[in-house]
Order: sequence, then C-alpha cells, then structure tokens
Amino acid sequence: MASLLFFGAPIAHEDHPQRALYTALRMQEEAKRQAEQLRRQHGINLQIRVGMNTGEVVLRSIRKDDLHTEYTPIGHSTSLAARMESLATPGAIVVSEHTHKLTEGYFEFKALGETKVKGVTEPLHIYEVLGVGLLRTRLQVAAQHGLVRFVGRHSELAQLKNALELTKAGQGQIVAVIGEPGVGKSRLFYEFKLLSQSGSLVLETYSVSHGKAYPYLPLIELLKNYFQITVQDDERRRREKVGGKVLMLDRSLENTLPYVFALLGIADLAFSLDQMDPQIRRRRTFEAIKRLLVRESLNQPLELIFEDLQWLDSETQEFLAFLNEGLATARILLLVNYRPEYRPEWGSTTYSTQLRRRPKAILSSWRRSCRRCVSKEC
Ligand SMILES: Nc1ncnc2c1ncn2[C@@H]1O[C@H](COP(=O)(O)OP(=O)(O)OP(=O)(O)O)[C@@H](O)[C@H]1O
Ligand SMILES: [Mg+2]
Repeated sequence: MASLLFFGAPIAHEDHPQRALYTALRMQEEAKRQAEQLRRQHGINLQIRVGMNTGEVVLRSIRKDDLHTEYTPIGHSTSLAARMESLATPGAIVVSEHTHKLTEGYFEFKALGETKVKGVTEPLHIYEVLGVGLLRTRLQVAAQHGLVRFVGRHSELAQLKNALELTKAGQGQIVAVIGEPGVGKSRLFYEFKLLSQSGSLVLETYSVSHGKAYPYLPLIELLKNYFQITVQDDERRRREKVGGKVLMLDRSLENTLPYVFALLGIADLAFSLDQMDPQIRRRRTFEAIKRLLVRESLNQPLELIFEDLQWLDSETQEFLAFLNEGLATARILLLVNYRPEYRPEWGSTTYSTQLRRRPKAILSSWRRSCRRCVSKEC
C-alpha cells in the first residue's frame, strides 16, 4: 500500500522540506515500534519505505465539503518522489538531490550514488537520511558554507556592548532585535557573541517554525546547552552531567533537580512529579530554571540568546515573563530577536532595535559571491 503526503500546500512554509523529513523520521520510528509488537504478537514483519522529492507541482483542488479539500498533484516532481520511495530499502528514507540540497546540515545523509530515472536524461544523485543533524538555524547552515564578511551595524553592536557592560555591573538587560526575514538579526547576535564570549557564558536557543506545538522546546535546548548534553549521551550520562553540575554549582539547588530532569526527559530515580498539579509543577519548573540561571550568573555574567520569538510556544513565553521579574538585579543579558508580526506579551525590553534594511554592502558582497542570486549566499 502506498500513500502520498504533501508539504507546502495549501499553505507554503519556509521550511517544508525539513518538516517533511521530520515526519518521515517519526514515521520510521513509529513503524519500528509497532513492528516490534506485531512481530511478538502475530509474527508479522512490518517495514515501510519512504521516498521524498522537493519541486514544483500543479495542484488541482477538489472541494469535498466545508472542511475538506482533496488535492491532485500533476507533474514530474511527484513521480520523482515515488521513484525515491521505490529505491529505498525497507526501513529507510531516500531523498532526491534537490531535497538533500535544501535540508543538508539540518539532517545527516549518506550518499547512495547516482541513479537513472525514467524521463530524466542526466543520472540523479540520491541520498539516504540517517537522522537529525547538528544544525538548527538558517544562519548555522549558511555559516557552514562560509559567511560573507560582516558589514555595517556599528550602532547596533555598540548598543549591545553597552547593554553587556550594564549587565556585568549587575543591572540585567533585555535587548530585542526586530526585523523582516533575512535582514540580519541572527548575524548581528552571531557577531556580538564572537566579540563578547570571552568574559561571559553565552547560552543560545531557538524556536522552530512549528514550535508552537512543542511546549518548552527552546528551554530544553537552553538547558542542553548549559549542561553540555550531546546526542551521544545516554540517559545515565545525562543524569550524571545534570546532577553533577547542579550540585557543584550549589548544593542548595538539589531540589531543582526533579524539574530539570523532567524537562530533559531523564527519569528521576528519587522523586516523581506525575501526581503534581500541572499549575504548581509549571511554576516550580520556572522557579527551578530561574534559580539555576541566577545562581550561575553570580559566578559569571550570562548572555541568553533566544532566536525567532515569533514561533515561541506559550510555556516558554510565560517563562520569559517570569524571568523578566527580578532580572534587573541579576548579571543576565537576555537577547531576543523576532520578525515584526510578533508582539511580545512577556514584559518590557530595556532596549529594542528595528533592523529595517540590509546594509547595502551585503547585497554587493552577495553579488560578488554569486552572480545568479542576490537574496542568499550559495
Ligand atoms: N551585516 C551583515 N553583513 C554581512 N552579511 C550579513 C549581514 N547581516 C546579515 N547577513 C547575511 O544575510 C543572511 C541572512 O541573515 P540572518 O540569518 O541574520 O537573517 P535573519 O534576520 O536572522 O532572518 P530570519 O528572520 O529568517 O531568521 C545571512 O547569510 C547573513 O550572513
Ligand atoms: Mg534569524
């Protein structure tokens, strides 16, 4: 039995190839889990193959009723996706060259070489998806290919430096950088981080475009960053890293551990939060993270970078509001950025700047680096 799934229609998202690959990985994970049960109970060997391609399709939509519309795709891109599926071995995900190009860095791939496809004269490179990669943001992916020289933004950098000086003197600051996609918000933070990281601890986190559906994701990433948890760490290693660091920081923080463990998906062998009222649990989780951060800031100033607040989930939003209270006396500099459509409801910033235009020099350096496009480095 074969099924066809579409991403990017009827609503186009800027990252639909990534969304499709996350879905494919979850499908394989879930199929493997179910297969284990089916094998044990019924002796059936269930395996699925997934193939994917990205490209233009013409969609014919048929309105079924008020809620449902059926889409019929027409075009070469869909048959190429079907071809990828037929090339995948059971249990695997195979993608075309185009999908690979758009998602490289966000995911890990194995090159499977070239293959001939009916209707295409040149052989096509195909790739197997191995798992989620290390890169999360567009700027990280761009940085892997080498960034163009940083230009302009002198006054913004000066403002950030000023905010850091005040923070170091014990007056916590919040700085928001607002601007359209691609205007340079992440790059500004990236450059500032390079300038400032020697005298302070920088902890970065980000939201993803489908992040509203993932409570706490940016906070979880922030904590992973703080505890230096990597994908290679098994549960025991993660527990050791978290427990060790918290107790080394301050023994009186021991009672924050159940909340940190729960957020990071680490089973707590001593204390269970399962029976706790959700409101109380949320409040204590916020308090636990704030206490950790404020305590750490006594040892060294902290720079917390939250990227892309326009995609923030409501729990993290509430956490920012909570952190905001009392930040003025902590050595914590909170740097956030977002697109203009977002309206922060979690408190006032000490300084905010709107990046309106790309500095002219960016466009000219893009022209120098690539004749075909001026909108992206490639
Ligand atoms: N001042 C600058 N000098 C040189 N290159 C820059 C500058 N600002 C931005 N860029 C380049 O422009 C590209 C887009 O910038 P960036 O990722 O920072 O945009 P953004 O505002 O964070 O966009 P988004 O809202 O999509 O996250 C990057 O490749 C970055 O290196
Ligand atoms: Mg950005």
